[in-house]
Amino acid sequence: MNPPIELQVREVLASQPVQDGALLPLLHAIQERLGHVPPEAVPVLAEYLNLSRAEVHGVVSYYHFFRTTPPGRHVVQVCRAEACQARGAESLMAHAEKALGCAVHATRADGAVTLEPVYCLGLCASSPAIQIDDKLHARMTPARFDQLTKGLL
Ligand code: FES
Repeated sequence: MNPPIELQVREVLASQPVQDGALLPLLHAIQERLGHVPPEAVPVLAEYLNLSRAEVHGVVSYYHFFRTTPPGRHVVQVCRAEACQARGAESLMAHAEKALGCAVHATRADGAVTLEPVYCLGLCASSPAIQIDDKLHARMTPARFDQLTKGLL
């Protein structure tokens, strides 16, 4: 059984170096540890960094990267930045929604997969690109997408 979320957040904070402008690195560290940035993390971070809750919440909600709810067992991210858009990312995303049975920014009802947009995976020259959990995939096609994701459902 995991310790309460607030305690887990405090453990993450204690494990990170204290530095100016630490909010973003701390949010990344929390999401890496918990899979998301839970609402309980906001007041803890605000107190820790001497910020208002609104400031912390504003940053969490501004960046699409941060999730506020736990993800599914697998996370599929489709790049929607410029190079990938020019190479069919929008139709790939539409295919992904249909193939995975869930909308963008959503998790399948059975919890198998969360589908998210992402804004550049560093594979612009080999776009369109996706990431499945921690693995990058370039030159994506709907057929390759189906092949790569069939084991996730
Ligand atoms: S724009 Fe998609 S990987 Fe850079």
